[in-house]
Amino acid sequence: MRALDLRDVSFKHLGSKEWALEKVSLEVEKGEFVTLLGANGSGKSTLCMLANGLIPHALPGELQGKVSVFGYDVVEHSVAELSTIVGMVFQEPESQLFCMSVEEEVAFGPENLAVPREELRDRVEWALELVGMKGYNDRSPFSLSGGQKQRVAIAAALSMRPQILVLDEPAYALDPVGRMELYSVLEDLKERHGMTVVLAERDAEEAAAFSDRLVLMKAGRVLEAGPPRLILRKSERLRTLGISPPQVSEVADLLNTRLMTSEFSFLTVDEAEAAIAGNVFSKVGRGRR
Ligand SMILES: Nc1ncnc2c1ncn2[C@@H]1O[C@H](COP(=O)(O)OP(=O)(O)O)[C@@H](O)[C@H]1O
Ligand SMILES: [Mg+2]
Repeated sequence: MRALDLRDVSFKHLGSKEWALEKVSLEVEKGEFVTLLGANGSGKSTLCMLANGLIPHALPGELQGKVSVFGYDVVEHSVAELSTIVGMVFQEPESQLFCMSVEEEVAFGPENLAVPREELRDRVEWALELVGMKGYNDRSPFSLSGGQKQRVAIAAALSMRPQILVLDEPAYALDPVGRMELYSVLEDLKERHGMTVVLAERDAEEAAAFSDRLVLMKAGRVLEAGPPRLILRKSERLRTLGISPPQVSEVADLLNTRLMTSEFSFLTVDEAEAAIAGNVFSKVGRGRR
């Protein structure tokens, strides 16, 4: 059974003339970390909202094809049912937090499911620890930084013990420190917890290195999907799609052009550093003394 399965999916928002998604097929396996990359309007949010049933249940329109999460057809199941399977995090931290304390916020979902008190406490502590917000239980969400708010929003999604986490440009409103903290939580979710994640992004900088797969989207279509190293090979192509490539892949492009090779492809600064130290200096005759 696929974690997320879109089969030939097209969707047109009510009142819109254009298809927001057009014949999109995408399969996400359990344990996979998939990053959707696309400019504004490419259909990322529409795809994310289909994954948890907000489309078509809360946002109506014309839907063709089939969307299922862990075998549940999103049309046949309510958003409430799907909320125990799909955890959702949106762009704006403010729009998702509404309780008086961090603890209430994270407990809100499972409390509504009548999870026993003892287990509720365990879930809250587990989720807060996972996002690096342990000890913030009594703080007001409104007193937190943007990055902290987003991590509380992630904890609130995780406390439902979802099978898949869908994050729609979660770093959108964050400053550099907030972004860094957020991505380290996401990396941790993948590396240590094997969480199944679908992340929508316009910027490939942080998530590319630890994603299993990148999916390039444009105007409601999936152009290409594959391992980051393959997808990031030509950074100017990403730019033409309105996606910021990681700086290290631009460095790789530059080296490949200058040295008339295609051997360089970097996903991390460490990779770039090692390759440059071990390779380039000798090639251009500026070896280290
Ligand atoms: N609520 C809506 N009503 C009408 N059209 C919408 C709505 N939401 C999105 N769209 C349209 O659907 C297309 C895809 O948008 P969206 O899924 O938000 O893309 P992204 O998240 O990549 O920016 C765009 O053309 C957008 O204008
Ligand atoms: Mg969007």
